[in-house]
Amino acid sequence: MTESRDPVISDAASAPDDRAWWALLERRHDAAIPVTGSPLWELYGALCQAHRHALAKGSFAVAHLAQSLDGRIATLSGISQWVSGDEDLLHTHRMRALADAVLVGVNTVLLDDPQLTVRRCAGANPVRAVIDPERRLDGSQRIFRDGAAPTLLFAASDRARSGDALGHAEVVPVPRGPFGLDPQEIRRVLARRGLTWLFIEGGGITVSRFLATRALDRLQLTVAPLIIGSGRPSLALPEIEDLASGLRPSTRRFVLGNDVMVECDFDG
Ligand SMILES: NC(=O)c1ccc[n+]([C@@H]2O[C@H](COP(=O)([O-])OP(=O)(O)OC[C@H]3O[C@@H](n4cnc5c(N)ncnc54)[C@H](OP(=O)(O)O)[C@@H]3O)[C@@H](O)[C@H]2O)c1
Repeated sequence: MTESRDPVISDAASAPDDRAWWALLERRHDAAIPVTGSPLWELYGALCQAHRHALAKGSFAVAHLAQSLDGRIATLSGISQWVSGDEDLLHTHRMRALADAVLVGVNTVLLDDPQLTVRRCAGANPVRAVIDPERRLDGSQRIFRDGAAPTLLFAASDRARSGDALGHAEVVPVPRGPFGLDPQEIRRVLARRGLTWLFIEGGGITVSRFLATRALDRLQLTVAPLIIGSGRPSLALPEIEDLASGLRPSTRRFVLGNDVMVECDFDG
């Protein structure tokens, strides 16, 4: 058996007062941030550097999904806790801590009622955002009531007016396009508010729409050794005729406990 050369993040994923993580957080806007030296710097240092470079074009967007071996992110009824292990959960909290804004689709808020805050590592809570074009959310969910971070609700412009609110959240109207609300426009709206690093945390429909509109710089797919056999799909894109039309981005791989995360780079 050959030994894996993929960086292993699991042993860095433990203590909440992890000094290396603090050091990285402090240097996340530093042009000379290290991108080698340990798996932590290799994974997150490179993302910080990519964010800096992306500022020239406006913003940086990274999506993440944890999926089973058979490409599912949840059961059909919507249970997704938990597909991946503790190391990947810590990773998502670290991604939140690095990002300016974290975004999910309306189904995720309805089914999970997530807080979208940073709790498993050090770091500030990002601005929270949800795409709810038809205004299906009623304001009873935690992100609208807990006041833990500023919260935005993107709704179709025929369903909302600037200045509307839902609980603590500001409602932001966005015009409809071929893939629903235009992900590129959502990125522009966030960038105009100074939110230049966007972390899209699911679910599959939301990430797929960002991917379909070329609105992702990176896509992180954590594959867990689990077969669900049915359930909500990870990515779903329009049909292609042949494999030459498939996407073949350059990738990096990281071992996260029992899971493997493949990070796709769409800028390269
Ligand atoms: N394993 C993981 O990593 C992970 C992560 C997050 C969530 N989850 C699970 O995934 C499930 C939810 O995922 P999902 O794929 O069903 O749904 P989702 O992505 O959470 O939400 C999809 C809905 O959001 C709205 N939406 C998203 N992007 C839009 C756009 N660009 N324009 C217009 N509308 C947009 C649409 O609402 P309308 O239908 O109203 O048009 C769409 O149907 C839950 O079970 C959750 O637990 C798993």
